[in-house]
Amino acid sequence: MEKILQGDKILLGVCYYPEHWDKSLWKNDLRRMKDHGLEAIRIAEFAWNLSEPREGNFNFDFFDGFLEEARAASMSVIFGTPTATPPAWLTHKYPEVLNARIDGALYRHGSRRHYNYNSRVYQELSARIVEKTAEHYGKHPAIIGWQIDNEVNCELDEFYSESDSAAFRKFLKDKYQNLPALNNAWGTVFWNQTYTDWEEVFVPRLTINASVNPHEVMDYIRFVSYSARKFVKMQSDIIKKYKKADDFITTNGMFSNLDNHLMVKESLDFFTFDSYPNFAYCLDQEPWVGSSGLKDRMWSRNLSRVRSVSKRFGIMEQQSGPNGWNTRMEAASPRPGQMSLWTMQSIAHGADYVSYFRWRTAPFGTEIYWHGILDYSNRDNRRLAELDNIHEKVTRIANAAGARYHAVFGVLEDYDNQWDVRLDAWHRRVHQISDEGLFAAAQLLHSPFDYVSLGDSADPAALPTPETLTRYPVLFYPHPTIMTAERAALLENYVKNGGILVLGCRSGYKDPNGHCPMEKLPGKLRDFCGADVVDFSFVPPDEKPINISWNGTEFEAAVFNDILEPIDGAEVLASYKNGWCAGKAALTMRSFGKGRVYYFGGTFSKDAAAVFIKNLKLDEPFRQTIEAPPSVEIALRDGRDAKFYFVLNYLN
Ligand code: GAL
Repeated sequence: MEKILQGDKILLGVCYYPEHWDKSLWKNDLRRMKDHGLEAIRIAEFAWNLSEPREGNFNFDFFDGFLEEARAASMSVIFGTPTATPPAWLTHKYPEVLNARIDGALYRHGSRRHYNYNSRVYQELSARIVEKTAEHYGKHPAIIGWQIDNEVNCELDEFYSESDSAAFRKFLKDKYQNLPALNNAWGTVFWNQTYTDWEEVFVPRLTINASVNPHEVMDYIRFVSYSARKFVKMQSDIIKKYKKADDFITTNGMFSNLDNHLMVKESLDFFTFDSYPNFAYCLDQEPWVGSSGLKDRMWSRNLSRVRSVSKRFGIMEQQSGPNGWNTRMEAASPRPGQMSLWTMQSIAHGADYVSYFRWRTAPFGTEIYWHGILDYSNRDNRRLAELDNIHEKVTRIANAAGARYHAVFGVLEDYDNQWDVRLDAWHRRVHQISDEGLFAAAQLLHSPFDYVSLGDSADPAALPTPETLTRYPVLFYPHPTIMTAERAALLENYVKNGGILVLGCRSGYKDPNGHCPMEKLPGKLRDFCGADVVDFSFVPPDEKPINISWNGTEFEAAVFNDILEPIDGAEVLASYKNGWCAGKAALTMRSFGKGRVYYFGGTFSKDAAAVFIKNLKLDEPFRQTIEAPPSVEIALRDGRDAKFYFVLNYLN
């Protein structure tokens, strides 16, 4: 059996659903996979019924039979726990396990992920199926690792069941100890929301204008993240008791309202991502794909985030066919070469295992149009032939496994601000434009970067060491709306020791509860950043673009303008050229210790970000080795004995 993600080889695999096929196909499928270079399969993640067809009746014949075939074929297996799809007998008998909408209506059986993490019954029945499964298969020679659940927080990342309200109260009691502390943190004196009994506290409910107390929402999102992590940890702790020492525990997908970094640290050996760049071509394209025109190349941003979550990582599901569910979203088939491109995109960003979704397209069910490598007919096809070509390429670079992605700068992120982006529309707008702009500009200038997480302020252990930051000569922290004293001290130290920090508008005006303290802006950053934010305004959408010019290049300070005054010896590098703020400082720079801080009063749209990247000399770091047009992504993985350059051509 091949091991994956052990740092010695990059390997390919595939997702397989033995329960979807007649048993007579298994042997041939496994042989064919092997013949085409697929060394591992993930199975069983939605198949609870097959092992527990009735409550408390366990029967492992089905997967015993299949695993025997896998062992005979020397196929490595990643075994999934089935908790993403509770059986009908379970949800029918115990409706309290179901998730609910904010108005209390239950999400019924018939799709997936319809459960809530906090139902005691669901926790018990999940723990039992995981325990029985791990006990039965833990030492199976074909198994090399375990996947917990499937895509934690996918489909829905909000939970409003009665169990959630009960668990939310407990979470808040642990956090605040008493109601006056909670009332204070939530500012409940506003609009007479003061709580006098814990039973009066609920997860957010239907309210006029959907305007739930914003500080409550911050705690609620942290609570959702905590609930999901606890559910994963419960399963991981059980699997650890039974698995073989070398077998790994992972989960797949990267979803919101979840501290993925902490989940990995607490419960997993590494993270796996599900990479579906074809979403960029869907007819009803998801709005988050954005407007930079980078299409499938935008998935490099997701992959960079995964690298931050888990240094070692794999792709559990890599797109291998056209998309489509029973009714939702449709995208064309990957063009010839595009499966190779997407596989190499994953590997370029650090994936050491790439597993395709899925071996063969399901001829029935909700995902009847979500194609795998093979079509319904099972005949050899173009995508299978392309897999041979991919396998040959991957074999040639197999020893890039473990090699580090080469980044020339870092972008700081943290969970407090991620939670705030979710609830605060102003913050969301500036975040989205800079998130996409910075990524797009860096891509087009071949300037690879890492995301660097500062964690959640609720988890003090998550704050990185100063050395984690000093590895990067330049750090962008586009809009750290929420700023803590600890983070500000870390950043001050980074700059003092020679780092270059770049901040954007709306920095430092909130605390972790989401209050806006009575401080001069940018709050806790003001001590060292050299800028005093004396005024600010949203740029009305119908207004002429507000421009600035720095080092002879003119660009837009889009969406929002902080009006600055330099302090502590800072210089003004650029002023607003038009609008009511014309002539006022828009960009300041302060030399501090051995480093510098830039404060930009606008957002890092693609053009603005490009100016920063060029002026800070971060563009084209590979110019001595590779000359390539902007349409090409360049990545480098630095191995122990070799350098691996990836030159990815997205032109179509
Ligand atoms: C993923 C999921 C798979 C499958 C796939 C295609 O999000 O993990 O189970 O649903 O999408 O829709």
